[in-house]
Amino acid sequence: MSTVVETGEQPGERPAQQPGTRPERRATGRSVLMCRPEHFTVAYRINPWMNPAMPTNTSLALAQWQVLYDTYERLGYEIELIDPITGLPDMVYAANGGFVIDGIAYGASFTHPERQPEGPAYMQWFAEAGFDVREPVEVNEGEGDFLLVGDTILAGTGFRSHSRSHDELTKIFGREVVTLRLVNPSFYHLDTAVAVLDATPGQEHIAYLPSAFDEASVALLRERYPDAIIATETDAAVLGLNAFSDGRNVVIASRAADFSRQLREHGYHPIGVDLSELLLGGGGVKCCTLELRR
Ligand code: ARG
Repeated sequence: MSTVVETGEQPGERPAQQPGTRPERRATGRSVLMCRPEHFTVAYRINPWMNPAMPTNTSLALAQWQVLYDTYERLGYEIELIDPITGLPDMVYAANGGFVIDGIAYGASFTHPERQPEGPAYMQWFAEAGFDVREPVEVNEGEGDFLLVGDTILAGTGFRSHSRSHDELTKIFGREVVTLRLVNPSFYHLDTAVAVLDATPGQEHIAYLPSAFDEASVALLRERYPDAIIATETDAAVLGLNAFSDGRNVVIASRAADFSRQLREHGYHPIGVDLSELLLGGGGVKCCTLELRR
């Protein structure tokens, strides 16, 4: 893994390091899959954010998405693109296309018929890119609900991915899988309620919104991640937790002001982007990003 060269950082932006109080955060290279929102619109409603009666602006969505792409490029990430397909407006949310660790791509099997054709489309991409594709038996929405933290897979259920897919995960990846139950329909995917800030084994660090989970799951998160950042309801409501981190740089919704402050306090370098148009579909930064771990 290569270390990301710092770019575009204003001198004043560097966190005032107080040795001993703030950990030195290190970026490691990232490889991601994205999908240009060429056909983006809100044509159906499968989450509370979506309102087909509200007009959407596809060129604005494209322009905002491009800023995210350019940001990743500037951070030195390797970016792959999957071709968008007409009639699949949610394909831009690449995180749902599967879950990839060690070159193995566990395919998605979508909950709602509107998105079901995306499953095979992403699996075809994985196969052509040389990944070892595992066809899913159980309903699951990929990295939208599955997050790798250290050697553990945090797996969401409650709205989309079926809990049986968590057993499938265990079998395929042979890692510990921790089930977390989501209870607020506005935070219907795990990546809307948890942000993985550092996935490095031994220095795992996350941020989350406690109210998005049932009691048992909150207790579990508290116990496992005592030093986690607790997000505010306000920041979560702009999908602030739907963020992508390389261990140092954390790309977040620019409107998540308090989260940005918290990240700085913890030694990270937050980078705000505005994806307001894609928020109309119920997705943000992380939703548009599928990590490819080869
Ligand atoms: N409209 C999409 C859906 O409801 C948004 C998906 C957001 N993706 C995510 N990883 N949270 O399925």
